Formats: sequence, C-alpha cells, structure tokens
Amino acid sequence: MKSVLYISAGMIALAAVSTGCVSRGNNTGWEYAPDMAYSKGYEPYNQGDSNTVNPYGMSMREPVAGTVAIGKEATHYPYDNSADGYEAAKSFTYPADFEDKNERGKYLFGIYCTPCHGANGGNDGEIFKKGLGKPAWPNFQDKYIKEIPVGQIYHTLTYGKNNMGSHAYALKPMDRWRVIRYVKQLSGAGAEPAAAKDSTAVKPNN
Ligand code: HEC
Repeated sequence: MKSVLYISAGMIALAAVSTGCVSRGNNTGWEYAPDMAYSKGYEPYNQGDSNTVNPYGMSMREPVAGTVAIGKEATHYPYDNSADGYEAAKSFTYPADFEDKNERGKYLFGIYCTPCHGANGGNDGEIFKKGLGKPAWPNFQDKYIKEIPVGQIYHTLTYGKNNMGSHAYALKPMDRWRVIRYVKQLSGAGAEPAAAKDSTAVKPNN
C-alpha cells in the first residue's frame, strides 16, 4: 500500500514538473542552454535575437547594390526604374543567344497582353474596351511601336509604365525578348533581333 502511494505521488509530481515548461500561447517555454543553440557571433543563417547593427534586425546582410546572382549575369537588367533608366534602355537589346522556338513569344502575348492590347495589338482587348486608360497611340501598327527601341519595351515590361503593370513576375528575361520580337512583328517593323552580337545584355555594367 505504501509503495503504491509513493508511486502515485511521484507521478503527480512528475506531471506537475513536466507541464510547467510546456509552451502555450505566447509562452515560448524553457530552453536548455540556449546560448549553445544561438550563436553570439553574427552568422547569416542564425537569427536568435534581433540584430542591433543590421537593417531590419537581420543577421544576414543585404547584398551590395548592383549585385548580380551567379549564373544570372547574361540576363541582368542594369537600369533602374527611373526616367534616366528608361532613356538608357534605348541601347539595351536582344541577348546574343536569343531564340524563339514554337512561337513562344506569340503564345505568351496571347496570355498576358491581349486582355488589354488585343490579339493583333489593336488596343481592343476586353480591358481597354471597358474603358481603362488606353495608350495615346491607337495600335501596335502605329509609328510609335514601329520605332520604339526594343530596350525601352523591355524596360516597360520589367517595371511597367502608367496603366501597364510590370510583367517581370510572369515573363523571365528571355520570354520578355520573345514577346518583344512578336510585338515588333505585329508592328510590321521587321522582326529580326538587330545587333545581337553587340548586345549590352551580356555586359551588365554598360
Ligand atoms: C492592364 C493592361 C495592359 C496589359 C495587360 C499590357 N499592357 Fe502594354 N500598355 C498598357 C498601357 C495603358 C500602355 C501605355 C503606357 C503609357 O505610355 O502610358 C502600354 C504600353 C505598352 C507598350 C509601349 C511601351 C512604352 O515604353 O511606351 C508596349 C510595347 C506594350 N504596352 C506591350 C505590352 C506587352 C508585350 C504586354 C504583355 C506582356 C502588355 N503590353 C500588357 C496596358 C497594358
């Protein structure tokens, strides 16, 4: 009888102790030797306490402005979203390895551009029909689209312009060029990428 009492008393004590450090609600519970789990040194992937030195309390540093990810050099777009960037984009052109198989440019145009610009760039897509602010030029066969440097279309696809939003989320760099070539094709301006060999697209610092 005595030993049964001891055991049940022991179990109650154990239950009380073990529920004491269960995390509930805002209580994070107890940790054994947290200074072993969380380095006091600044390590990029270890975020114990809020870092008091770096922005946003991050241990990780932000990349230096203009940093290009390894392997992305050829598709890096060097100009920022500003009037100067748009002006500089005039010299940006098709990458040297440009290719457009199976009319992918036309296919992507059908998905992302026709809702506003219409199947043949007549600015007669459903959204423009409903009255959203149309461009000043009437259609893609206009002189404006015939003559606009491809780099500036790239800039607009990347950042957007007025009522046209950025399409960078949907079109990776090579797909942007494919769509641009299709736009130029629609305009009748001659579709072939010019001066691909001198492309500034492969020289990010130009
Ligand atoms: C939400 C409607 C909308 C969609 C979708 C849209 N555009 Fe536009 N686009 C516009 C408007 C509005 C302008 C005029 C912007 C301005 O100059 O004010 C424009 C301008 C342009 C221009 C002229 C660029 C410049 O720099 O002046 C081109 C080329 C163009 N669009 C192509 C495209 C392509 C290609 C797509 C699909 C990837 C697309 N647009 C999707 C609304 C749209």
